[in-house]
Amino acid sequence: MFIYNTPVEKLIALDNNIFLIKVHCPEITKSIQPGQFLNVRVSEGIFPLLRRPFSVCDVEGESLFLMFNILGEGTKLLAKKHVGETIDILGPLGNGFNLQGNFETAVIVAGGLGAAPFPYLVRKIGDKKNIKCFVGGRSSHDVIQYGMKNVLTSTDDGSLGFSGNVVELLQNKLSSSDYSKIKIFSCGPNVMLRSLKEFAVKNNIECEASTECAMACGFGICQGCPIESTEQTDKYLLVCKDGPVFNVRDVVI
Ligand SMILES: Cc1cc2nc3c(=O)[nH]c(=O)nc-3n(C[C@H](O)[C@H](O)[C@H](O)COP(=O)(O)OP(=O)(O)OC[C@H]3O[C@@H](n4cnc5c(N)ncnc54)[C@H](O)[C@@H]3O)c2cc1C
Ligand code: FES
Repeated sequence: MFIYNTPVEKLIALDNNIFLIKVHCPEITKSIQPGQFLNVRVSEGIFPLLRRPFSVCDVEGESLFLMFNILGEGTKLLAKKHVGETIDILGPLGNGFNLQGNFETAVIVAGGLGAAPFPYLVRKIGDKKNIKCFVGGRSSHDVIQYGMKNVLTSTDDGSLGFSGNVVELLQNKLSSSDYSKIKIFSCGPNVMLRSLKEFAVKNNIECEASTECAMACGFGICQGCPIESTEQTDKYLLVCKDGPVFNVRDVVI
């Protein structure tokens, strides 16, 4: 893990408020794994003070992509970067998704901007396994299919695909004979991850989730990103160091 001063190569506006930023950073691209993240200094000045964590969205040669939507000060500044400007990036951080195992099909479940880590996961899996993607959002504007493969969509308001949430869609589309042959890779709001965990545990399905929480240092020093472990009561793990990807059985979501 190091800090790199990386030049911006492209800023792409995908859809309503969703951006991809492409930076050149061969030191990171040669080792980063899907699910890992970078802690980005969004401004040259002192405000905002804290770096912002972003999942690696994709890797193309010596360049990497981050996906973001404009929420607050940090992402507002990121969306104003120009080609050639440099951004200070700390990484790679955290663990990644575990692609080992005997599963035949990788089932990706993404809610809203939880789609961000999956283009790289899809690229890494390539044709080594089957891939099915379940992508949900509140409405059609929130469904991000960028870099996904074999996509089924859901929206809470019924404006695109299945009308309902993405876990209900998954339950409708999987049959019990699939359960032992799949592994679920997920990212999204906690409410989605919680109901996905319930479904996966009940049906004995392998399932990993990329979790989110507020972070400061990003590498285990400040103790500012605890997540409760299911192993023992009162035991906490750190999202930045022990995660952000966890087996859903190991943490309280
Ligand atoms: C491991 C990890 C990976 C992440 N990956 C991505 C990614 O790939 N793309 C991405 O856009 N963001 C990602 N995030 C969230 C990101 O780090 C920022 O928190 C978020 O983009 C908002 O930053 P901001 O400075 O614009 O907003 P701030 O000014 O910090 O916050 C503005 C408002 O948004 C709320 N807010 C802040 N963060 C979140 C959040 N995560 N969810 C809902 N509301 C929030 C705040 O409470 C506040 O009300 C990730 C976070 C973690 C921990
Ligand atoms: S963000 Fe500092 S310990 Fe996790």
